[in-house]
Amino acid sequence: MRLLGKVAIITGAANGIGFAAVETFVNEGCHVALVDFNQESGEEKARQLNELGKGKAVFFQGDVADRSSVDSFVQGVKEQFGKINILINNAGITRDAMVHKLSSEDFQKVLDVNLTGVFNCTQAVLPHLIENGKGKIINTSSVSGVYGNVGQTNYAATKAAVVGMTKTWAKELGRKGINVNAVAPGFTETNMVAAVPEKVIDQMKAMIPLGRLGKPEDIAKAYLYLASDDSDYVNGTVLHVDGGIMM
Ligand code: CAA
Ligand code: NAI
Repeated sequence: MRLLGKVAIITGAANGIGFAAVETFVNEGCHVALVDFNQESGEEKARQLNELGKGKAVFFQGDVADRSSVDSFVQGVKEQFGKINILINNAGITRDAMVHKLSSEDFQKVLDVNLTGVFNCTQAVLPHLIENGKGKIINTSSVSGVYGNVGQTNYAATKAAVVGMTKTWAKELGRKGINVNAVAPGFTETNMVAAVPEKVIDQMKAMIPLGRLGKPEDIAKAYLYLASDDSDYVNGTVLHVDGGIMM
């Protein structure tokens, strides 16, 4: 029960890595606010988890790219649980295209969710973490943000920017008792990767020393470490969870 009595907000929590994190956190005694704009899936999953009888899971519908939506779900979480200890900025999208074919709309849309969304949620949650004198913020970068990836101009830009924001906030917020770190997953078996052509997946797999794609649980365990007291002296780091695809 490494998160017993803690309250976490996990964005993009209705599917994939975010949902694996919700399951992991609830099993460790954490109360979790699942935030997603996909209401149907999020509500049903929260209901299933509550049957476990460990930490409580509550769904909040929200769009991280929309500041008024973010302010409203953060307020709702505070009212529901009375405090906030952990923020996992996990929501993210892709709109892949070669740079010469990438539309301005798709460039901007990915920035709105993956970059502005991280800023919006962090700024809205911060007063509550500061109030506690302790808190954990975990951002989600990607192997694409660190090394680049064909077809991902917009996405790689945001995931590199997340590293810059993580390190900046680690410097700014450390003195307030808040640790800020990032996880950089490699290719992980979720809906996001399901859209990638098989040929590209095969190329990626061949580059991974561990010989397999990541599972959502692999990433959730990294979030757990960075959210728990076990990482109290870890700040401003980017934890690569990618089977060693790039070194
Ligand atoms: N590495 C090397 N070459 C690649 C490549 C890659 N990752 N992806 C595409 N190419 C090559 C293709 O093989 C093709 O080569 P040829 O012209 O010699 O046949 C050329 O680039 C053009 O590719 P397409 O014919 O597929 O061009 P398109 O315009 O129809 O599609 C694309 C381009 C949208 C980028 C498509 O190739 C694609 O979806 N690629 C995968 C992008 C990707 O890896 N996305 C990751 C999503 S998962 C995620 O984002 C999570 C994370 O953090 C990692
Ligand atoms: P996914 O597509 O399976 O799930 C993403 C969830 O985020 C969905 O439930 C979706 O509804 C939600 N979401 C999207 N935009 C939102 C918004 N504006 N507001 C609220 N919720 C929103 O994706 P996956 O794979 O679980 O990705 C999670 C995070 O991990 C993302 O930040 C992604 O970029 C990152 N990542 C994923 C990798 C992978 O290979 N799957 C690799 C590296 C990073």
